[in-house]
Amino acid sequence: MASEIYIINGPNLNLLGEREPEFYGTESLDSITHFTDKLVEKKYPDLVLQWKQSNSEGDIIDWIQEARNSTGLVINPAGYSHTSVAISDALKLLKIPVVEVHLSQVAMREEFRQRRITAMGANVTIEGAGKVAYLLGIEYIQVLEN
Ligand code: DQA
Repeated sequence: MASEIYIINGPNLNLLGEREPEFYGTESLDSITHFTDKLVEKKYPDLVLQWKQSNSEGDIIDWIQEARNSTGLVINPAGYSHTSVAISDALKLLKIPVVEVHLSQVAMREEFRQRRITAMGANVTIEGAGKVAYLLGIEYIQVLEN
C-alpha cells in the first residue's frame, strides 16, 4: 500500500505571498505545494501527500483525526500554535509521527509566540527554514518509517 502523509496548514496561510513577506516569504501556498510535490515525487514516487488548509479550528481537528491511520502528519497550526488546547489534544491522540513546522523563526519573535501549545502534541518542531520546512518534515517521517 502506498504511504500517505497529511500536510495541514492553519489560518492565514492561504494568503502566503501577500502576508508579511519579511516573515513568510513571497511564495503562495500553491507554489510551496508544487515545489514540495515535485521533489517528493522524484524521491518517493509511492508517497501520497494530502495537503489541507483551513482558517477554522474545527476543520483542522477533523483532518488530524482523519490522519490517524496515515504514515505521518506535518502541521503548521499558524496562530493556533499559541492558543489551541483542542488542536494539541487532537495531536496527542495520534500514534503516527507528527512534525510541527513554522516558516519563520518563531524563537526570535514576540513573547506571545513563545507559548507553544500545539507543539506539545508533536514529536519534532522545525522552524525558520521557510518553505523547505515541509520537505524536512516529510523526510523525518520517511526516515522513521523506512
Ligand atoms: C507561523 C508562525 C505563527 O506564529 C504565526 O501565527 C503564523 C505562521 C509560521 O509559519 O512561521 O501564522 O506558524
